[in-house]
Amino acid sequence: MLSLVIELKTPGEIDAIDAAGSVVARILAAVRAHAAPGVRPRELDALASDLIAEAGAVSSFRGYHPSWAPTGYPAVLCVSVNDAVVHGIPGRPKLKEGDLLSVDFAVHLDGWCADAAFSVVVGSGSVADKELIATTEAALQAGIDAAQPGAQMGDVGHAIALVARAPGYGMLADHGGHGVGRSMHEEPHVPNEAKPRRGLRLKPGLVIAIEPMLHAGGRDSYRHDRDGWTIRTSDGSRAAHAEHTIAITESGPRILTLD
Ligand code: MF3
Ligand code: CO
Repeated sequence: MLSLVIELKTPGEIDAIDAAGSVVARILAAVRAHAAPGVRPRELDALASDLIAEAGAVSSFRGYHPSWAPTGYPAVLCVSVNDAVVHGIPGRPKLKEGDLLSVDFAVHLDGWCADAAFSVVVGSGSVADKELIATTEAALQAGIDAAQPGAQMGDVGHAIALVARAPGYGMLADHGGHGVGRSMHEEPHVPNEAKPRRGLRLKPGLVIAIEPMLHAGGRDSYRHDRDGWTIRTSDGSRAAHAEHTIAITESGPRILTLD
């Protein structure tokens, strides 16, 4: 049964999600610092796994089993390299100079979840890849800036898509963000492309993950890997992902996945 209940969080609950978000931000910073040529994504996953335990948190990914997936998720990070957009399973092949890495990560702390992602070029990369990442981050920021109390969900998707589409990038537009709280995925859906002044009215207490996924090829076309998890661009072009968990407050959006 599809649940369309949207739970608004109290200020105390938002602080609890912020605490989980600080753990996410610190561990993602450590992963970013360790991503280098010669490192195996699987080693980054082991690092994150150790740091989760040290923080007294729990992975939100390991064992997660949505209906479309063949298995429970086998890792604590998603590490998507080059043409992988999202849900890459951290593997053994070593990272190479110039690889475009997207890392997605969520934990539960004291029963509350926070979810975030970043992209980075390993070593010295191409200008094109850096521009793709910068635009993805700018699209995320535009979405956050649009998430004002009294605005509508369509305003968020509209703001993201304006930034993403301007340089002609493709987008994984049907895989948007989501509500976050006790569970990693809650209502409502957060579109990466939408009409302005449409959809849910944003109220203080709404906590959502905003997560644009852009790729260099202009056509929105994707395929699932044989592993059943990894989503890749059909044209082989490189993809970037950026995500924050935010709360809508009386005074505007508050990013919860910062250190
Ligand atoms: N953070 C990801 C998202 O919101 C969830 C990854 S699901 C996992 O889409 F199972 F891969 F962990
Ligand atoms: Co997410």
